[in-house]
Parts: sequence; structure tokens; C-alpha cells
Amino acid sequence: MDKKLYMVSLGPGDIDLITVKALKALQASDAICIPTKSADQSFKKSLTHKIVKALMLEHNFTKPLIPVYTPMHFKKEDWQYQVDVLYDGFKTHDSLSFVTLGDSAVYSTVYYLLDIIKVQRPKLYCNTEVIAGVTSFSQASAKVKKPLCVGDSRFEIIPLLDKEVPTTTVYMRPKIGLDTKNIVERGEIYTFENMNYQGENITSYKKSKVDKYMTLFIDFFK
Ligand SMILES: C[S@@+](CC[C@H](N)C(=O)[O-])C[C@H]1O[C@@H](n2cnc3c(N)ncnc32)[C@H](O)[C@@H]1O
Repeated sequence: MDKKLYMVSLGPGDIDLITVKALKALQASDAICIPTKSADQSFKKSLTHKIVKALMLEHNFTKPLIPVYTPMHFKKEDWQYQVDVLYDGFKTHDSLSFVTLGDSAVYSTVYYLLDIIKVQRPKLYCNTEVIAGVTSFSQASAKVKKPLCVGDSRFEIIPLLDKEVPTTTVYMRPKIGLDTKNIVERGEIYTFENMNYQGENITSYKKSKVDKYMTLFIDFFK
């Protein structure tokens, strides 16, 4: 049987802000892999563990929990260790979830692990599903009833580091018929049309003209 890996975004800490899709993935998994900063593999300092425990209690299910020591030193060997814990889990389980705070698209370990899995286990990479979640800043905006962007404003995410960093740019709210020549590609640009609706079309290039209002472009950093 093919192994299945879910990269599950848990949202910003309120268990009611997990998506239904993420909850279904946890319920469908044979075991749940949980990052912990404790070298003794305990869950004492793990925020994700608190969320998963509360979710299991609230939604009446239990799963074996596999600790994944995550020291946050941003070292390749640490990510390899974490991937090896997942590989080990697959020796006794057919499906696993690996959980992350907020949304996996934003400063999450998920993509360090996926970069390794893509090379070492291409089949598992293809069978991996990343499940989007609510970000900390979406929740922060909702808490104080202030939009992140509205009308003609834009929105930036800036890591607090003392250096220049590569940028991902999201372009949205285009006019139908817009010629996209003024969108200058800096990284790797994708076009997303009618996502999750009839006629969904995702291309790994910039369409030259906008055909649908429900179009967004993401120029992913390289
Ligand atoms: C490694 S990033 C993970 C971001 C997460 N994936 C997301 O979607 O928000 C961690 C940073 O997100 C922010 N963050 C995450 N959860 C937060 C919370 N509950 N309250 C305030 N800031 C939070 C903080 O800036 C923290 O340093």
C-alpha cells in the first residue's frame, strides 16, 4: 500500500480555527507526528501537542503521537533527523500527519522536510498533501477588527532579521483583460485561476492576459 503523508496546518492555537480538512486528515492518519523542542522527546514545551490533545478531546478520537525533536537551529542534519523520524513511523503506519502551527506556507519546517523527501522518497513526496491553515496574522487582524489590506492598500510580511532577504509577492484583484507584461518575474511565478471552483487552472508560469477576476499570481522567492 502507498504511504500517505499529510502536512497539517493547525491554525493559530484556537482549536476552532483548524480547518475541517485538517481535522479530517488528523482523523484519517494512523499516527500524528508532533514537533517538540525538548531533547528528551517529551511534549512539555510543545504548543502543537497542546492543540492536538485538545482537538482529540473535543472531537472524540485518539491517535498514537510520535515526538519529532525540532531544535530550531536551522541545520540540515536536524531536518534530516526529523525526516528519518517520519520514515521510521512509516515502518509501522501507512498514513502519518506532521503538524505545524498557523499555516504551513509561512515560516514553517514543513518545506525544509519536503525538500529532503522530494529527493530521497519521490513517491512519498507525490503522495504528500499539504493542508493550508489560518495564519497567526489573520487571527491577529480578526482579534482587533483591522484589515491587513483593503481598497488600494498592500500587505507585507517582513522577517525581523538584519539582512536582505528574498521576497515572495502575491498579485491579486486584477482587471479582466489586463496585460501582465508589467508584472516582472523575480523568482518563480505561478498563475492560479478559479482555485477550488469549476475551471480551476494552475500554471507554473505567468499568463500573459487575465481572463478571469478570480485570478492571482504568486512570484515565489528563489
Ligand atoms: C515560525 S513562525 C510560524 C508562523 C505560522 N506558520 C503562521 O502561519 O503564523 C513563528 C512566528 O509567528 C508569529 N506567531 C505565531 N503564532 C503566534 C501567536 N499565537 N501570537 C503571536 N505571534 C505568533 C510570531 O511572530 C512567531 O515568531
